[in-house]
Amino acid sequence: SAARVVVVGSFNVDHVWHSPALPRPGETLQGEYRSGPGGKGFNQVVAAARAGAQTAFVCALGDDAGGALARQLADTDGIDLQDLRSGSPTGTAGIYVDDDGRNCIVIGAGANADLSADFVSARAGAIGGARIVLAQLESPVESVLEAMRLARAAGVRTLLNPAPANAECPRELLAVADVVTPNETEFTTLLSRHAHEEVDADSLVALDDARLHRLCRTLLPRGTVVVTLGAAGCFVSHREDKTRGDARDHYRVAAERVEPIDTTGAGDAFNGALAASMARDAEAPFQAHVRYATRYAALSTEREGAAAAMPAQGDMERRFAGR
Ligand code: RIB
Ligand code: NA
Repeated sequence: SAARVVVVGSFNVDHVWHSPALPRPGETLQGEYRSGPGGKGFNQVVAAARAGAQTAFVCALGDDAGGALARQLADTDGIDLQDLRSGSPTGTAGIYVDDDGRNCIVIGAGANADLSADFVSARAGAIGGARIVLAQLESPVESVLEAMRLARAAGVRTLLNPAPANAECPRELLAVADVVTPNETEFTTLLSRHAHEEVDADSLVALDDARLHRLCRTLLPRGTVVVTLGAAGCFVSHREDKTRGDARDHYRVAAERVEPIDTTGAGDAFNGALAASMARDAEAPFQAHVRYATRYAALSTEREGAAAAMPAQGDMERRFAGR
C-alpha cells in the first residue's frame, strides 16, 4: 500500500569520533571511533518508520559498501527505497562529538549531489499518494523544490527541515512548505537572508513570544513555523486564522529532561516523528504532534549514533508510560 510519509533526501555513512573536547585548529586528539548510517534524509525516514509510519525514501546512492548498507538497513526498517544509482561514492560525514554530546560535522555529499529533479519527477506517483512529504537541504535544491511542488499539486502536506543552515533555501521553496522546522541557527540565517532581520541565534530562546511569532510570520506568512530550541523545547507559530476559534496561534512546547550522550540526528528524530504523527492522525491538534516529536527526539539523544539511535514505538511507550 502507499507510503504515508515520503522522505526526499540524503544518505551518508557517518564516521564518528568521540573525544572529551572538540578539536581546535592544529590540535590532535585521541578519541573513540565508530561508523554508522546517517544523512538527514535517512535519519528522518528511519525515525518516521520506527514511529509507525509506512515510508518511502527517495535518494541517491553509490555503487559501493555505503550504498549496500543503505539498501540493507532500509529493508530492515521496512522502508520503500527509491534510489538513484549514482556513479559517485555514497555520501559521507565526518563527525566529532564531545563529552557534552555536542558535535561538529563535515559532509562529503558524493552521490547525494546527483539526486536529480528528473528522478524526483519520475516519483510523482509515490509523492502524490503520500500524506506527508518531508525534505531537507542536503540534496540539490531544485530536486527538493520539485518534490515539494509535486506534493503541493497533489494536495499532499509538505514539511521542510531547512538544514543545514548554510544550504541555499530560496523563497520559492519556503513558499511551498506547509510546515518549516528550523533550529536556532537555521531560523536566524533564514531571517537574515529573506526578511533582513538580524537576530542573534543564542538570544533567540530569550525573545518574548509575541516577537518570535512576528518573526515567524515575516518568514512564512501562510505556513506553520516550528523553531526547535534544543534543551529549551520549541516555539510554534501558526498563521492567523479566524476559524481557529480560541486555539492559540503561537505557543512553546517544553523539552523532556534527558541525559544526552549523543545529540547527532536529534533534529532528524524530531522531523521524522513529526511527519509520522501528522500522517497518523490528520485531525489531532498540531500541538500533540509537536509534543510527540519532542519526546521522540529527546529519547534519541540518550543513544549513540544517528539513524541507529531512532527509538521504536515500544521504547517510547516504556519511557513515557502514563504521561
Ligand atoms: O543531522 C545529522 C546528520 O547530518 C548526520 O547523520 C550526518 O550524516 C549529517 O548529514
Ligand atoms: Na543520538
